[in-house]
Amino acid sequence: MPSGQSRTLSDIVSVAKDKYEESVLKLIQPNRLPQHIAIIMDGNGRWALSRHMPRIFGHRAGMETVRRTLQAARDIGIEFVTLYAFSAENWSRPKPEISALMHLLQEYLRKEVDELDSSNVKLLTIGNISKLPSYAKRELDCAIERLSKNDGQKLVLALNYGSRDEIITVAKRIGTMVANGEIKPDRINFKTIEDNLYTKGIPDPDLLIRTSGELRISNFLLWQMAYTEFYITETLWPDFSRVEFFKAVLEYQKRDRRFGCVKASS
Ligand code: FPP
Repeated sequence: MPSGQSRTLSDIVSVAKDKYEESVLKLIQPNRLPQHIAIIMDGNGRWALSRHMPRIFGHRAGMETVRRTLQAARDIGIEFVTLYAFSAENWSRPKPEISALMHLLQEYLRKEVDELDSSNVKLLTIGNISKLPSYAKRELDCAIERLSKNDGQKLVLALNYGSRDEIITVAKRIGTMVANGEIKPDRINFKTIEDNLYTKGIPDPDLLIRTSGELRISNFLLWQMAYTEFYITETLWPDFSRVEFFKAVLEYQKRDRRFGCVKASS
């Protein structure tokens, strides 16, 4: 096809896409947005292997999806986004893949920090980040410091994060407080736990998005997701689009959240 014609075709596709996105966006009710969206970004490896490429290629494509999804979340005013970027279990992957993931994290932060700053994003982490390789940790510390005064969207990166590890850490901290006489065991309550989680100060996720169709929670925010709504899609993370992100929010807005109660009228 001559280049003039193909440009015209891609222009038509692009206009149609924009119109579709606009029509989905119009359906979102701004007064019923999830305050916090957590995302399990799954399927990078399968996406790459289906293209006969190494898994790392999928993670690189996934980095672009991170950029696009955070932009979409900012566009509609989502206050907190938590990304499961590296789990405590991911250390058992092949060393070159771990190294590629850590270098991608470094590259992402280096490339995106200006844009995140101009968008007033604050960066937080959950997980034991002291175990990250020094180059990744340095970049992370720099980005956290650079964005520390921002008060717009909170981007929470779960790095070397495992929910069971987190709960063990909480148990140890509270055990120490009891041993030191700072709290009596029968005074331990909901707030004592919340105040000692990595997520202290972060509201529980309202919506979990998991790509690639797996029906698992994968040791992610087990305490915090007690009443979270799930949106599971077959789409692999590198293919996850802005429109699908908006559709996930729309789906959330259709849910009837009762938090274990019944409706007043029932
Ligand atoms: C799971 O897909 C994905 C990960 C373990 C890593 C996610 C990392 C990125 C999206 C890259 C960049 C992230 C940031 C925050 C800069 P998988 O490898 O388990 O896929 P598979 O199930 O198809 O094998």
